[in-house]
Amino acid sequence: MSRIDTLLKLKKEKNAIILAHYYQDPDIQDIADYMGDSLALAQFAQKTDADVILFCGVHFMSETAKILNPTKTVIIPDLEAGCSLADSAETKAFSDWVKKNKNATVVSYINCSADVKAMSDIICTSSNAEKIINSIPNNKPILFAPDKLLGSYLMKKTGRDLILWDGYCQVHAIFSLKDLIKLKVRYPKAEIIAHPECEEELLDHADFIGSTTALIKRTEISEAKDFIVVTEPGVIHQMEKLNPQKNYIPLANTEGCACNECPYMRLNTIEKMIQALETLSPEIILDETIMKKATPPLIKMLELS
Ligand code: 13P
Ligand code: SF4
Repeated sequence: MSRIDTLLKLKKEKNAIILAHYYQDPDIQDIADYMGDSLALAQFAQKTDADVILFCGVHFMSETAKILNPTKTVIIPDLEAGCSLADSAETKAFSDWVKKNKNATVVSYINCSADVKAMSDIICTSSNAEKIINSIPNNKPILFAPDKLLGSYLMKKTGRDLILWDGYCQVHAIFSLKDLIKLKVRYPKAEIIAHPECEEELLDHADFIGSTTALIKRTEISEAKDFIVVTEPGVIHQMEKLNPQKNYIPLANTEGCACNECPYMRLNTIEKMIQALETLSPEIILDETIMKKATPPLIKMLELS
């Protein structure tokens, strides 16, 4: 039996569903039941009637699925699949920061731990962040964590003065403007599409900025034939499937380096997925109190989305 057949057989036996983010390897994307950006994956996790969710993404995403589905078994292929951005907001330091700014509304980007979600007033993702910020009364100070680059972008977009946590994504923060300009010179007609986790100087050169889903949709509706893709290149698999006649050029960090690939997302493999379904582990287990506290800020976001 092929490894794909083994995976499909186990999925049926366990009444499991496979959710995957666009930064997963193409073979994982092709076997997933449902693909999406962080918002779509959270929305889908809320609806499924499967007994088991095999979550192919990173830890904070599977924690979100568990918070929204406390009675279901949520498993992941690799426990080490974390996120540099989520790791930047350590629980105690975050708690001190929130206590110091008692009268502020705490908006946390979904790329954070369950503990941080539990201390937040509302969660946002890259697809709804602007809307969430705009939903907060003008006279309220806002704490925004953990991504200072997304936070700066939101300050520009909304005109609000956000108090920012000092975190960033290790993948998006090291894209260089020099490399982007070199590519633009080589492909002058290309549309530059970028994720809002990038540095401001790169976003200033982008023709379109959005979540992974929004970037994929943009390549479908845009008249352009060439796209310079300023995010994790995993998204290109869906772009090529939807419009194979177009040309997608990933922005690499430096010659020959694969550091534009998220090292955490890329830990997941088909073999680890098979093992996870066989053993129903590693399983996401969260503290009951944390789950209860983290639910309202997530539900608030889903209601506004
Ligand atoms: P999206 O919500 O746009 O899919 O982004 C998730 C992420 O981790 C980007 O680095
Ligand atoms: Fe986290 Fe960055 Fe990887 Fe997204 S790309 S999961 S923000 S480390």
